[in-house]
Amino acid sequence: MTRRRTAILISGGGSNMVALARDMVDPDHPARPCLVLSNRPDAGGLARAEEMGIATAVVDHRNFKGDRPAFEAEVTRALEAAETDLVCLAGFMRILTAEFIDRWAGRMLNIHPSILPLFPGLHTHARALEAGMAIHGCTVHEVISDLDAGPILGQAVIPVRQDDTPDALAARLLPMEHRLYPAVFRRFAIGDRTPVSLTS
Ligand code: GAR
Repeated sequence: MTRRRTAILISGGGSNMVALARDMVDPDHPARPCLVLSNRPDAGGLARAEEMGIATAVVDHRNFKGDRPAFEAEVTRALEAAETDLVCLAGFMRILTAEFIDRWAGRMLNIHPSILPLFPGLHTHARALEAGMAIHGCTVHEVISDLDAGPILGQAVIPVRQDDTPDALAARLLPMEHRLYPAVFRRFAIGDRTPVSLTS
């Protein structure tokens, strides 16, 4: 079995990246990490990737002064140099152009901290609370050129508590993200798009 070479794109702490990479330590996993790439040189996840023996790269978006295609060309160069088959966005906080997304069509996943199609974009936990939701959750989906849209491959839900704050909700959701993303990705890497559904 040839394991699919997987690049994981991050902007921050990289806890979802670690969850994916830990799952891929299993030699029977259909994929393996080939690169962890961040647009931020100070992303905490970079050191965590290095500790796990995964190659890392930084393409600092601030060096491209709003020239998104030039930024993405550099990202593409790094992904190609790592012979990437599949891309997992894991807390990667840059909007991607349709050209970049088309290049990876059907091969790029994202995790979003809401029950899509509810609450695309930012501040999902606060918005779920403001809307009076009784449940909250996260979604893994294929990436298409519309933001936080694309075929849903898995969702996990948690109850909202009376006294929840956005931070408390985010903290309770994160462990579910860490279960959901690897579960979906194992299937996706062998072409299985059957949706995964998890409850706490
Ligand atoms: C996660 O909650 C992820 O769902 C969210 O950022 C966090 C990254 O945490 N992603 C988005 O908001 C994407 N728009 P991590 O760096 O510890 O994985």
